[in-house]
Amino acid sequence: MDTQRQRITDLVERRAAASLGGGQAKIDAQHGKGKWTARERLSLLLDEGSFEEFDQFVQHRCTNFGMERQHIDGDGVVTGRGTIGGRIVYVFAQDFTVNGGSLSKTMSEKICKVMDLALQNGAPVIGLNDSGGARIQEGIDALAGYGDIFERNILASGVIPQISGIFGPCAGGAVYSPALTDFTLMVRDTSYMFLTGPGVVRQVTGEEVTQEELGGAAVHASRSGVAHFAAADEQEGIEMIKELLSYLPQNNLETTPEVPTHDPVGRTDIELDAIIPDQPNKAYDMYAVVRSIVDEHRFFEVHEDFAKNIIVGFARMGGQSVGIVANQPRVLAGVLDIGASRKAARFVRFCDAFNIPLVTLVDVPGFLCGTQQEYGGIITHGAKLLYAYGEATVPKVTVTLRKSYGGAHIVMSCKQLRGDINYAWPSANIAVMGADGAVDVLYGKELKAETDPERRAALAETRKKEYDELFCTPYQAAQKGYIEDIIEPCNTRFRVIRALDSLRGKRQRLPAKKHDNLPL
Ligand code: HXC
Repeated sequence: MDTQRQRITDLVERRAAASLGGGQAKIDAQHGKGKWTARERLSLLLDEGSFEEFDQFVQHRCTNFGMERQHIDGDGVVTGRGTIGGRIVYVFAQDFTVNGGSLSKTMSEKICKVMDLALQNGAPVIGLNDSGGARIQEGIDALAGYGDIFERNILASGVIPQISGIFGPCAGGAVYSPALTDFTLMVRDTSYMFLTGPGVVRQVTGEEVTQEELGGAAVHASRSGVAHFAAADEQEGIEMIKELLSYLPQNNLETTPEVPTHDPVGRTDIELDAIIPDQPNKAYDMYAVVRSIVDEHRFFEVHEDFAKNIIVGFARMGGQSVGIVANQPRVLAGVLDIGASRKAARFVRFCDAFNIPLVTLVDVPGFLCGTQQEYGGIITHGAKLLYAYGEATVPKVTVTLRKSYGGAHIVMSCKQLRGDINYAWPSANIAVMGADGAVDVLYGKELKAETDPERRAALAETRKKEYDELFCTPYQAAQKGYIEDIIEPCNTRFRVIRALDSLRGKRQRLPAKKHDNLPL
């Protein structure tokens, strides 16, 4: 009996020691950098008391460079299962206090175990990264460990949601695990991601750059688009991950959780009747439209600071999760460019993979022109968004608010890309191009031939008016059945919710194929 009691006491003591990771001094150093430990992060992320830890006593097997003398239970990563809002998630959090959170073969085995369980049991996996990368003492074993993780990231893609939080360093090839997941969140000022650090950059290119300038949250959230979210601090980062998860299903075979709302489905908003300016080139704020039509005006934006000419994010409509994609007339007039196409394409594909209906709000003057865009491959990048919408089989409801011109009209979830319900506001212009450009092409010679400037201006006005009347309305599209209805702006919320409700049983398949070959 005494032996048994002693063994239990030993277990409790060993657990307590293991939960200190690399020890109190290292924990204090972590706190000194304004960072939390792996366990502190998990305790904030998961429902209280829900965490079931796995492999707390696993130790590395490295015998190089004196590592054979170092035995720390858990080996630099805390892994397991817990719940968030009562829903199962699998988690791993790298522990920087143990060898800088560097990845050993055993650490990778711990991470792979939770990834395998998440995939097998159809639950999201959340990884909190804080690591110096491959554990140098382990050489190829550490690299192999990354390979094992990447392969699982790939196999799980489109099956379970994968979320990466970057809460410290994430450098070298290690960045590819977050890059393979669905969403990456970075914490401002304390996290960074880059393939090669400032020292190597200086040696190779002579460029002087700080860690923050090279791969801080601000850079990746606004310039590269690598990060979907940038949190002010760790607390906000954890809250954002939880909110993101609330919009997602557990896996690709499930639907998203319904969240009952007090916001009436039939709520109208007369301010929308006046939101479109009389002058076609004047901007308005698409956020006002998005917030007006979604439940409780709550919009959870993805990629907020990147390619701001398009807005993407999650919301609920009538309690159902939806993915919103909307052109933003306030930035570059809402034009589609490389960044916007990439951003929206990835979002549309995520929503499609996880049964989240798409609501698209269109006000797009076309694709951005010029050498910079053409040389950068706007043709290929624009095709990504076209492909994503055309391939998506989730319910697709589209509302054209104002401009919908040319190729961009087709790309933005039009009828021919199997849009289910397409509405337009009375202010919609659905045409090959705007009146100025069209008159120039069609009547350029006639206008040039008119030498009197006043008469030329009057003629141009007349031609523009004719063009406007014919094309710059939604009626031609409505007459031909390219849109289902022209709706009053104030009714947009309930018309969209009714459309979404009618599509709840939608079944649509793609032809059998090994996989697609979208233009990467
Ligand atoms: C082993 C490592 C380590 C690593 C850090 N440590 N990185 N141990 N392998 N990769 C150890 C340190 O020796 C130190 O141990 C402890 O972790 C904390 O590190 P510090 O340097 O004291 O911390 P800090 O000053 O905050 O700097 C953190 C850091 C730096 C910027 C991450 O440690 C660093 O530059 N590490 C190397 C990063 C790197 O080049 N990694 C390889 C990337 S390539 P003690 O015992 O003193 O506490 C890669 C390939 C992946 O990862 C390929 C995938 C296909």
